[in-house]
Amino acid sequence: QEPYVVGGKSFTAVAINTAAKAGQWIKSRLGAHNSVDMKYSSHDLVTEVDKGSEKMIRNLIMTHFPNHSFLGEEGVEPGPAASAQALQNVRDAEYLWIVDPIDGTTNFIHGFPFYSVSIALAYQGEVVVGVIYDPSRDELFVAEKGKGAYVHGQKMSVSAESKLSDSLIATGLPADRLGALPANLSGIQALAPKVRNIRVAGSAALHLAYVACGRLTGFWEIGLNSWDIAAGALLIQESGGQVTDTEGKPYTLDVRNIIGTNGRVHQELQQGLADSGATGF
Ligand code: IPD
Ligand code: CA
Ligand code: CA
Ligand code: CA
Repeated sequence: QEPYVVGGKSFTAVAINTAAKAGQWIKSRLGAHNSVDMKYSSHDLVTEVDKGSEKMIRNLIMTHFPNHSFLGEEGVEPGPAASAQALQNVRDAEYLWIVDPIDGTTNFIHGFPFYSVSIALAYQGEVVVGVIYDPSRDELFVAEKGKGAYVHGQKMSVSAESKLSDSLIATGLPADRLGALPANLSGIQALAPKVRNIRVAGSAALHLAYVACGRLTGFWEIGLNSWDIAAGALLIQESGGQVTDTEGKPYTLDVRNIIGTNGRVHQELQQGLADSGATGF
């Protein structure tokens, strides 16, 4: 039996409905959140809307699938070590939902309209459903393993550029100012002269969705978590692109240093990072 449909319930339909519902609610709270709290550092922020979104998503999913496991960013102690451990605790679950209730919290706080809800379902440690919803543009990106990827019902495919010099690339400037930030800055320094341009728009999940639909040629970021990447990685794979870690190893749930591209510039991007030593920290 296919892992996406059990007992007649489509996991993908639940993921889509849940992401859209949470996303609409988040949007209704734009400019109206009450509190901004610090998590791991003064750059790592959370609002009651992040927590409310995660609660809504967890409740909706658990109502449908009470036996499934759930990993959401706001249910985990802040910081890289605790995040990695939290994944290890549930990694072997048969069905695991991996959720970022708002990816791009800083953008949400400032009213910069580039944030998303990211929901992935892993079956025996492998992502089989990925949904990313962008409330600002009302865009819904959906992938099912082996069945392709779609944005609002239209099949997606990655872009055609075959050289780094023709590529529009994105990355992120993570909250971890000591480890991940300098590594990504080194990468920017090394790659900026080689690419057409670089964007740093503040939602890793949405950047990955943009690689999948061909608006970006590639994306890399060092120091992410499973919930930033899982849905977007499947979107790219199902759109004909390639996803590895910064050393070129195939994507798994444990990967924190990610490269996702149209495939054609993957090697060149990876080599550019490797040459500069900007593959991790
Ligand atoms: C962050 C965003 C940002 C990236 C950070 C992430 P959050 O997620 O994806 O673009 O640079 O590394 O932590 O905290 O807004 O969910
Ligand atoms: Ca966060
Ligand atoms: Ca995130
Ligand atoms: Ca988040």
